[in-house]
Amino acid sequence: MIVVLMGPPGAGKGTQAERLASQLALAHVASGDLFREAIAAGSPLGRLAQEYVDRGELVPDEIVVQMVLERLKQPDCARGVILDGFPRTVAQAEALEQALQAEGKQVDLVVELVVPEAVILERLTGRRTCRHCQAPYHVRFNPPTQPGLCDRCGEPLEQREDDREETVRHRLEVYQRQTAPLRAFYAERGLLHEVDGTGEVEEVAARLARIAEGA
Ligand code: AP5
Repeated sequence: MIVVLMGPPGAGKGTQAERLASQLALAHVASGDLFREAIAAGSPLGRLAQEYVDRGELVPDEIVVQMVLERLKQPDCARGVILDGFPRTVAQAEALEQALQAEGKQVDLVVELVVPEAVILERLTGRRTCRHCQAPYHVRFNPPTQPGLCDRCGEPLEQREDDREETVRHRLEVYQRQTAPLRAFYAERGLLHEVDGTGEVEEVAARLARIAEGA
């Protein structure tokens, strides 16, 4: 099963993708996490991506597509995958479609998490992310058991550079301009489902699980 999880920055894609991936025993592939890992490692890909990520701009399509398609060849993706934050442009969606078709596969389900801008700003300014495994927390809505430390791996939590308010506002504009057109791409293929991303994490997870069960 191949699921695409779309939604603006802070919609809860990472939070929900992790849960759904573990429920359905699928791999969770997040393009933003792959970039942050490359940046932290100081790799050539990381050096290329850093200026785009820090400014809240999209990394050029050819770089993202190559990186994600390489990741999809890993054995843990053989059973299926939840794609979080990819594709993000129509060109990326076309490249994914072609690559999957070449292997007799296809995207089975696309979910867009819908969340109003005021809620997003509150979520992102309070987000803390694990430096090591990138698990997302929130100082109010989803605090770690031990303040400042990741429940999963025990490493320190930090605030992402691109979670400053003006960068978040820019990322929201970029989403509307460059990613929102993907809705039509997937709606034409009968794959798009909109899901209300507001409310408790568990409530949103239940809405998503219902849709995934029916797919
Ligand atoms: P990426 O990391 O993908 O960032 P994003 O799409 O902006 O999404 P976020 O990670 O900010 O939010 P999310 O929806 O995952 O929310 P989360 O679950 O953390 O991309 C970063 C950058 O990488 C891009 O700007 C670009 O430069 C580059 N990039 C990545 N992919 C690319 C691509 N395909 N093409 C080109 N460039 C690309 O939740 C947010 C917060 O809210 C957390 O604190 C969480 O605990 C909290 N929360 C979640 N759900 C709830 C809830 N129901 N109630 C209360 N709080 C909640």
